[in-house]
Amino acid sequence: MKKITIAIDGFSSTGKSTVAKQLAKYLGYIYVDTGAMYRAVTLYAMQHGFIDANHFETSKLVNALEDITISFKFNDTLGFAEVYLNGVNIEKEIRTLEVSSFVSQVAAVSKVRTQLVKQQQQMGKDKGVVMDGRDIGTVVFPDAELKLYMIASAEKRAKRRFDELIERGDEVSYADVLKNVEERDYIDSNREDSPLRKAEDAIELDNSNLDLKTQFERVVSLVNDKFKQ
Ligand code: DC
Repeated sequence: MKKITIAIDGFSSTGKSTVAKQLAKYLGYIYVDTGAMYRAVTLYAMQHGFIDANHFETSKLVNALEDITISFKFNDTLGFAEVYLNGVNIEKEIRTLEVSSFVSQVAAVSKVRTQLVKQQQQMGKDKGVVMDGRDIGTVVFPDAELKLYMIASAEKRAKRRFDELIERGDEVSYADVLKNVEERDYIDSNREDSPLRKAEDAIELDNSNLDLKTQFERVVSLVNDKFKQ
C-alpha cells in the first residue's frame, strides 16, 4: 500500500501525541514528536545557562546549535521512540513544567526552527510518517496527504497535563499548569516565524468531550478515506 504523510498540529496538550502514537502503531509508520525536539534544545540551553527566569542569551544558543544532536530510539517496552540529546536519554527531563516554561521562547528563535525543520523533513522524506507539532501541515510538510488540527479548551488541556505531571510525581499546582498552557498558546500562535495556524486543508478535531476510542475511530476513518482517494 502506498505510504502517506500525516501531519498533526494544535495547541499544547490537545492529545496530538496520543493520536499520533496510536496511528503510527496502527499503520506501522514512524512517529516523530517535534515538540520533544524543541524541548531538547531548551534543556540544552538550560544546562548551559543560556536561559533562566531572568534572561535568554539567544546568540549563545544559536552559536551552540551545531553541538546539539537530537535523535530518537524506539523503546520496545514503551512502544514509541524516546528522545536523546547528544546520546543521553532525556525523555523524562524534557516533560517538566520548568522546560515547558521556557520552550516557547526557544521555539520562537528562527535559527532554531530552521535547523529542526530541516531534520524533520529529512526524517519524513520517505513518507510513512506521523509527525505532530505546531507547523507540520503549514511549514514542514505543506503537501502532507492528511492534516489534522486538534483543539480542546485550555482548562481541559491543563487538567490533562496536570494529571500527567502528578502521576509522574512532580509537585505542581493546577493554576501554574493552566498559566503555562495559556502563556504557551499565546507565544506559539503570535510568534513571527511559523506561528501555530490551522492549514487551509486541515481537518479540525475538537476532543474536549471525545473519549480516546471514539477519537481514534474517527481518525482511522479519515485515514481510510485518504487511502481510497
Ligand atoms: O508539543 P509540545 O507541548 O511538547 O511542544 C513544546 C513547545 O515546542 C510548544 O510550546 C511549541 C513548540 N513547538 C513548535 O514551535 N513547533 C513544533 N513543530 C512543535 C513544538
